[in-house]
Amino acid sequence: MISFSCKSRLKEDSKIDKLVQQMTLEEKIGQMNQVMNFIDTMPIDPYFYNLIQEGKIGSVLNAYSPEMIKEMQRIAVEESRLGIPLLVGRDVIHGYRTIFPVNIGLAATFNTELVKEIAKIAAIEARSEGVNWTFAPMMDISRDPRWGRMVESCGEDPYVAEQMAIASIRGFQGKNGFNSNSIAATAKHYVGYGAAIGGRDYNTTLIPEAELRNVYLRPFKAAVNENVATVMAGFNELNGVPTSGNIHTIRDILKNEWGFKGFVVSDWASIKNLEVHAYAKDSSDATIKALQAGVDMDMCSLYYLDKIKELVLKGSLSEELIDDAVRRILKIKFELGLFENPYANKDNKLITEQALDIAKKAVIQSTVLLQNKNKILPLSKDINKVAVIGPLADAPYEQMGTWVFDGKSENTVTPLKALREYLGNKKINYAPGLKISRTRDKKAFADAIKAAKNSDVVLLFMGDESILTGEAHCRAKLTLPGYQNELITEISKLGKPTVLVIMSGIIHMIEPYLEQVDALLYGWHPGTMGGPGYVDLLFGLESPSGKLPMTFPRTEGQIPIYYNHNNTGHPASDESWVRMYDIPLKAWQTSLGNTNHYLDYGFEPLFEFGFGLSYTEFNYSDIKLSKETISLDDSLIITARIKNIGGFKAEDVAQLYIRDLVGDIVRPVKELKGFQRISLNPGEEKIVEFILYPKDLEFHNGKKWLIEPGDFHVWIGNSSKATLMSKFELK
Ligand code: GLC
Repeated sequence: MISFSCKSRLKEDSKIDKLVQQMTLEEKIGQMNQVMNFIDTMPIDPYFYNLIQEGKIGSVLNAYSPEMIKEMQRIAVEESRLGIPLLVGRDVIHGYRTIFPVNIGLAATFNTELVKEIAKIAAIEARSEGVNWTFAPMMDISRDPRWGRMVESCGEDPYVAEQMAIASIRGFQGKNGFNSNSIAATAKHYVGYGAAIGGRDYNTTLIPEAELRNVYLRPFKAAVNENVATVMAGFNELNGVPTSGNIHTIRDILKNEWGFKGFVVSDWASIKNLEVHAYAKDSSDATIKALQAGVDMDMCSLYYLDKIKELVLKGSLSEELIDDAVRRILKIKFELGLFENPYANKDNKLITEQALDIAKKAVIQSTVLLQNKNKILPLSKDINKVAVIGPLADAPYEQMGTWVFDGKSENTVTPLKALREYLGNKKINYAPGLKISRTRDKKAFADAIKAAKNSDVVLLFMGDESILTGEAHCRAKLTLPGYQNELITEISKLGKPTVLVIMSGIIHMIEPYLEQVDALLYGWHPGTMGGPGYVDLLFGLESPSGKLPMTFPRTEGQIPIYYNHNNTGHPASDESWVRMYDIPLKAWQTSLGNTNHYLDYGFEPLFEFGFGLSYTEFNYSDIKLSKETISLDDSLIITARIKNIGGFKAEDVAQLYIRDLVGDIVRPVKELKGFQRISLNPGEEKIVEFILYPKDLEFHNGKKWLIEPGDFHVWIGNSSKATLMSKFELK
């Protein structure tokens, strides 16, 4: 599990052996039981107190206060018979008290070092209040912006998801084993949850084995290789079998094929949901199916606590399964050092200057510049008057985004606050125009229009309240909620230079706004330091450098649309797309190009994966390969020259894509295989270098893994539309 020396591992195992031998069957079952105490007052509710005291709880989650955590841990350690400490779990998803941009925004940084640093800060802050396990990183591949949980994902690409997962796990857990500030990480939601049909959360997922292996399982495999402590089985049913009772994915692949040594926790009551799925006929059946599939800990359904003993005693479940689950759980508790130090690290500080600096940097690097007509950005600080308009301009709670249990509004710096600090109050004309993002009246439009008329530039801060994104919050229509469209339209009629900043956790259909505003920044929900980060971007202290981790469709009807698609036998092209209103009357029925497009919306997205503008421009040239042909034991070095040909110091994200031209099963038209941030002064140029190994070209054909000889194309550029291309052959 964690790379201990063999001796220490043997010592560890003997400690576990000794403890397991002392445990009664009830105590073993207790370790497999995770519950939440819903009584939020102290002292601890007697029912809950007794469960802990009797060793019937192995882990608690999302407790209401550090005091409650401490007391629950004390009861476990000092009053239960064996004194086994609790795993204290929590959704520390994008920060603990310092809140960073939501995870889709962190993916947009394409900066794994930054993501690792963020997870490390979150772990330190979480340990300061006794939390020792986070249910993160989420690594579900998401190709559907209707799915509200895309906010927690790293988007559509398995390579980005895998690299961000590794970075987060290293940040949460440490690189070579836990340290005193580590928290156990969770690879979730295992597996395929993001493929929910229709983008509706919890919906059915149908994923063929090859797609499961090549796309959805990839980040989880990387997480297991990175020694992730736990894996969370999901809510979705995969090809007819719920993932929290799925022997193929958990027992066969995760535990047997990959050798995962941590433990699997169910998602919230997903063991109980096996009945709702109509996969289990009752609680006993659900218990047996989950345990046999390899789910070691039951989050909040209490089925394990209620049912396992009788099932073991009547021979329906072998105690070996229980022992394996308990050993896995105890292993993490020992490795976290909880037997020596079960309580909060009181010396750890919250919201340090360093944490806030990192949070601001994350805002700057996650925000994506999608349009900058007439280069109206960056603005000058000498500007006379700025109108600040929109329901997200001063919404400290909303800008933190979803899954924020421990962030506090009073720590949040909103765009309005940061602009006032930077420009001075006299320069600001503030009028929200809409009370909240869902407001559906024009009562406050007049003030907003007046503010705009009396200003030189208009800054619009639009988007969603945080609750409109995240779990169970999906949308069929992806226009901005409330009367935001109407407000943007009214403001645009004034003809003022207008900048739109969208603060959300999901992708909206923004094509109409491109005509109405001059510049558009996609700011995701930015967290604590949203305001200062945006000010640095708007006034040119920093250039935008974020890149899209997910394709932006032109309209919902194009979904799903993603860059790493297969070619099909009828690929679309601009020539082949006959626009719907150009079709002559009585056109012969097969005259419409016969290709993979929509008559009305074509085949191209609004913005492609990997896209993001800068205040400067980068020129990519001179792609070179170390060899034209490589063999299986070779590697290939690919370089390109990048030059900053504009007048602004900035960072770009160089991206490496390949295409396998012919495969045992068809392969995507492009696959990201590398990315790196490059900083260049105006006029400066650098050589960017990537190394490819034959292993990077491996794919699963539904039956086995293959590295097939053949021809490949390779690109380097700063979006998935990269054109700088070369080719090589794998012998
Ligand atoms: C949820 C989520 C999961 C979260 C868990 C604990 O329903 O699906 O991501 O970690 O409950 O809060």
